[in-house]
Amino acid sequence: MSTLPKYAFFRGKMVPYSEAKVGVMTHALNYGTAIFGGLRAYWNEEQGQAYLFRPADHFRRLMLSMRLMRMELPYTVEQLIDIAKQVVAAEGHRTDVYVRPLVYMSDELIGVRLHGLTPDLTVFCVPFGGYIKNETGAHVTISGWRRIDDNMIPARGKISGAYVNTALIKTDAALAGFDEALVLTQDGHIAEGSAENVFIVRDGTLITPPVTDNILEGITRRTVMKLAQDMGVPVVERHIDRTEVYIADELFLTGTAAQITAVTRVDHRPVGSGEMGPITARIREMFFRVVRGQEPKYASWLVPVYEK
Ligand SMILES: Cc1ncc(COP(=O)(O)O)c(C=O)c1O
Repeated sequence: MSTLPKYAFFRGKMVPYSEAKVGVMTHALNYGTAIFGGLRAYWNEEQGQAYLFRPADHFRRLMLSMRLMRMELPYTVEQLIDIAKQVVAAEGHRTDVYVRPLVYMSDELIGVRLHGLTPDLTVFCVPFGGYIKNETGAHVTISGWRRIDDNMIPARGKISGAYVNTALIKTDAALAGFDEALVLTQDGHIAEGSAENVFIVRDGTLITPPVTDNILEGITRRTVMKLAQDMGVPVVERHIDRTEVYIADELFLTGTAAQITAVTRVDHRPVGSGEMGPITARIREMFFRVVRGQEPKYASWLVPVYEK
């Protein structure tokens, strides 16, 4: 059970969470016609400050998901960042939080379609620590499910209905005793994790599937690519074959929830040495310094929640 928020941004204003309710006929609830985002605000105890991580990039992606779903709302990226700040400040947690913006088709009617409907925005946040149990040594399987294809449901959009695919992948992996699963594209290449992008390391090069392999275009993925390049680690975007994950030197998952999760076993086979590898460890360490505001070079990625 997760903690319920005290407030939510709902129908254009902040309200107590108990008032942020929709009717059971709501289109999005019946047909999955909603899109969402997920970003973190990292708490810096020394500075008494919470930093939203790359909110402009998260809200730009939210708007792209809206375009895919023919949703129009009057908010700008700057206004959405302000709403996120208000939501985080209202809760006042002195810990890391996860902010969830959700744009949903709010009409209460029967009929599956996208046109002629009324999108609405809600935003709330909850305290959030780790997402994957073993962030420094996860055991993953390769899912029997395939990743949704762009011609079925746009994979690069964060579309609520599409997350049934994630739920099937995640639950089957968890009930079989794994921490996560990798999922293949229709043509059998590695696309990503259930809700994370994936990287392998081979001979000192970081390799990740291209945005045309039905991945969600992750912001943590983009962050890792930049950090690696700045550290002098070459990064290549190309297809990853299934068996490459068995012979990779290192393997890790990236996501707002999963952060940087080292994968040390795939289907009972050790990855590399069976321990978190050196490149993963360096990137992971740098990532956590960056998100907590300890690396001035990347300060432009952070938006403080509290005025000082
Ligand atoms: C399917 C999927 N892939 C990848 C990611 C990672 O994206 P990001 O780093 O932007 O959180 C997520 C999480 O949002 C996701 O749901």
